[in-house]
Amino acid sequence: MSEPTAPTPSYYQRHIFFCLNQREGGEASCANHNAEAAFARCKAQAKALGLAGPGGVRVNRAGCLDRCAGGPIAVVYPEAVWYSYVDQDDIDEIVRSHLRDGVVVERLRTPPEVGR
Ligand code: FES
Repeated sequence: MSEPTAPTPSYYQRHIFFCLNQREGGEASCANHNAEAAFARCKAQAKALGLAGPGGVRVNRAGCLDRCAGGPIAVVYPEAVWYSYVDQDDIDEIVRSHLRDGVVVERLRTPPEVGR
């Protein structure tokens, strides 16, 4: 009988994806809610706090995550926590609390029923 394979260590401790999508026809879109600025702020803050890079945090652009009605949307893995943020203060809180300290920002969680 073979031994179980040890899990591969994660290259990043946490990964956050920001939807930056603009949908056609005036439909709800994260791009209409300063998602690009939030993405840039998150990236800058992660870097400023020394979190960015292997073993730390990766901040990535994403296309539509299909939860547009709750936008602007970001999702953090490996916890799979979805956020609906509003402003720069929210981004700073997500960076400090969740990305750095591992504490989910409950008040910014996207409601479970929110979809497209
Ligand atoms: S446009 Fe952002 S989740 Fe769809």
